[in-house]
Amino acid sequence: MSRLIVISNRVSAPKAQSAAGAQGGLAVALSAALREHRGIWFGWSGKETEEFTGHLDMQRNEGVTTATIDLEQQDIDEYYNGYANRTLWPLFHYRIDLTEYERHFGSGYERVNERFAQSVMPLVEPDDLVWVHDYHLLPLGAMLREKGVKNRIGLFLHIPWPPTRLFVSLPFHERLVTSMLQYDLIGFQTQEWLESFLHYVEKELGGKTHPDGTVEYKGRTVQAKAFPIGIDFDEFTEGARSKMAQDACDRLVKSARDRKIIIGVDRLDYSKGLAERFDSYERFLSDNPEMAGGVILLQIAPPSRELVASYQNIRENLETKTGHINGAHADVDWVPIRYVNRGYPRAELAGYYRAADIGLVTPLRDGMNLVAKEYVAAQDPEDPGVLILSRFAGSASQMPDALMINPHSAEEVSEAISRALAMPRTERKKRYEALMKSVREEDVVKWREDFVAELFQKQRAN
Ligand code: G6P
Repeated sequence: MSRLIVISNRVSAPKAQSAAGAQGGLAVALSAALREHRGIWFGWSGKETEEFTGHLDMQRNEGVTTATIDLEQQDIDEYYNGYANRTLWPLFHYRIDLTEYERHFGSGYERVNERFAQSVMPLVEPDDLVWVHDYHLLPLGAMLREKGVKNRIGLFLHIPWPPTRLFVSLPFHERLVTSMLQYDLIGFQTQEWLESFLHYVEKELGGKTHPDGTVEYKGRTVQAKAFPIGIDFDEFTEGARSKMAQDACDRLVKSARDRKIIIGVDRLDYSKGLAERFDSYERFLSDNPEMAGGVILLQIAPPSRELVASYQNIRENLETKTGHINGAHADVDWVPIRYVNRGYPRAELAGYYRAADIGLVTPLRDGMNLVAKEYVAAQDPEDPGVLILSRFAGSASQMPDALMINPHSAEEVSEAISRALAMPRTERKKRYEALMKSVREEDVVKWREDFVAELFQKQRAN
């Protein structure tokens, strides 16, 4: 079996995973993959250094070897807080209104990708499969090629790929995508993002694309394909059965005192549609005055990317909104929104999900969204809650048995909440069983195996 070299901006050793934090889907999925696969996980340590040296900090933890480098302040500003999270993230989530572009962001992004390439090079052996992750590292494959790396290199993008008409607003967009065509395999979360990418390659680069996702461009053949990511089903359900989960569930149920519980769990990010969610919930309270005192929304929202202004703004906006809604609707013994700015260990979260009658997942745009899957996996099979899911989450295509909503419509979300609260147990069970089937079968193991098998096949074909 070939060794796997995984490269991503954030590296999260298994040990750190049990700690609470604002972890996105990527970190969780990758440690699950590497635990079973002989290989190395390379990336940024999250630490800052005075001057970049390229020194590799190698560690071995629970069967996973990690190799990390420190970055300079300027690198972090221009690459992570700049190009990755002020330029690409908003643009790829269809928010050109929030997209900032400054030339030094672009040069910082290239410099750090170059530093990644240079530092990981000595670790790569001839038979290794190299698997690069996410929008922070799009040109990395091309930089490795320039240094003579002949291995098969795959890229998986964890976030959406925007429609061509939006994407062309990015200065030097051709340069970015041309560099991506140096990968052998490019994976997307859904068919929709894959189609947008292929459309761009045809219309803007004049490449030739085939229905199976093969791309021909200047004599190179690249495979593009959708690989929907899932949760680590076995690990998650084990956590959901733990004492920690049970205690968390009991604690929340007890504190809710027979009220219906709606739960939301998201990094504090504008793509998650939190402001719209709170407005929809207020609409529900106004439309259903008889529910006053009978329902609570528990929103868990750990802060994220706090040095970026748009993230500071959303935080302020939500604080104001929560204050307003609670002020307008609360009573002496009832607060309609419990808004919590911290993360929890996964097993504890599983308990909160299980206690909730509704999982409210309303992103305006999301590559996949694993909270939707975790909510389903945590339910009591005999008395499951109802998932309300945005049609704009990547997971919507795999979860048609959720109550599907348009998160921009407060009316629609409010009606879905009413419907979920009134839903008979037989219908809840039927929907739960159908959802559970895809959550169980299309899990992170299948995602990893499918991607690695496809990349490996390319190696033999070479
Ligand atoms: C999303 C991205 C990941 C990222 C995560 C958390 O899931 O796809 O690449 O790691 O968010 O964001 P952060 O900026 O804290 O790494």
